[in-house]
Amino acid sequence: MAIISDDENLNHKKKRNDNTVSEEISYDMSFETNIRPKVFNDYIGQSSLKSTLKISIEAAKKRELPLDHILFYGPPGLGKTTLASVIANEMNTNIKITSAPALERPRDIIGILMSLKAGDILFIDEIHRLNKISEEILYPAMEDFYLDMTTGKSQTLKSVRIPIPKFTLIGATTKAGSLSSPLRDRFGIIHRLEFYTDEELTKVIKRTAEILNIDIEENGAIAIAKRSRGTPRIANRLVKRVRDFAIVKSNGIIDEKTSNEALDILQIDKFGLDNTDRALLNIIAEKYDGGPVGIETLATALGEDTKTIEDVYEPYLVQKGFLQRTPRGRKLTSFACKCFNLKNIDIQKSLF
Ligand SMILES: Nc1ncnc2c1ncn2[C@@H]1O[C@H](COP(=O)(O)OP(=O)(O)O)[C@@H](O)[C@H]1O
Ligand SMILES: [Mg+2]
Repeated sequence: MAIISDDENLNHKKKRNDNTVSEEISYDMSFETNIRPKVFNDYIGQSSLKSTLKISIEAAKKRELPLDHILFYGPPGLGKTTLASVIANEMNTNIKITSAPALERPRDIIGILMSLKAGDILFIDEIHRLNKISEEILYPAMEDFYLDMTTGKSQTLKSVRIPIPKFTLIGATTKAGSLSSPLRDRFGIIHRLEFYTDEELTKVIKRTAEILNIDIEENGAIAIAKRSRGTPRIANRLVKRVRDFAIVKSNGIIDEKTSNEALDILQIDKFGLDNTDRALLNIIAEKYDGGPVGIETLATALGEDTKTIEDVYEPYLVQKGFLQRTPRGRKLTSFACKCFNLKNIDIQKSLF
């Protein structure tokens, strides 16, 4: 079945990029559910986006109409899926959660659209991966709330219009640029999620620690926040790692010293960069004289696929001012060369 409805189901079955459904009733998944904010008050940061959404939600409620279709874009782990569920909670509506790779056949998308009730939210993750046929089915559904279907056999082929209830589509993508423009144009609200500040991540960490009964000092939380790449998902993951370290190596309390020691062992540096980030910068410096180097070449040299580099590693390196995207390829900035003493000393050794 291509459809994963409601939050509960999502915890058990999660559609993967490779289009297989893996059963994951793991500790990690229940951990995710417990700490995922459910209402705006618990959703930290993204303040301008939240204010815009609050107004749209209030207006939609007053007019007794569904919200405009919404598109969220930005790197993984910044809270796109979480925000979609928060909106559903705030609107008091149901949400059906699926992702583009699960909507390969026309009947997948038709099935899910026909199952919607008035006011429901349909969340499609990785929406840039929708195929052309599914996209074309979606256009009239988004615009005028009907489906164009053909019935009968070849000679008696008839086209029929089937009305569907008014719903809200929320799409999420790591790559807004890969969305076709007819699809992008059908979203009334388009928003980019920003990386979080250290202060915001400190709040995320303290909130998570409280839910999980972890003893953490303010400075311990700040130390983790600084190395979390501006990303709540990473901050939450690091809290767990540091907690384990604190239990084994000291009294279980996360203070600044424990955090820093644990993160050093995990080889996450003071900029939040891990081994792969450093290897990426290192390769550009050592093998390509600081760039520019094409993304394909870089991916081969690094042993990663281009999509992961583009979606996961690059955005943060660019945001931090270490990397530049130019028409001729990726280039190190002089700031990166200064921070990591590049070209003279191996980055890995210069960091700690
Ligand atoms: N604004 C936020 N406040 C608190 N926690 C957040 C926030 N955004 C994300 N998180 C946490 O980070 C995790 C990843 O968020 P998610 O919505 O899955 O990211 P995305 O869909 O953008 O990849 C969630 O489990 C959630 O607990
Ligand atoms: Mg998501």
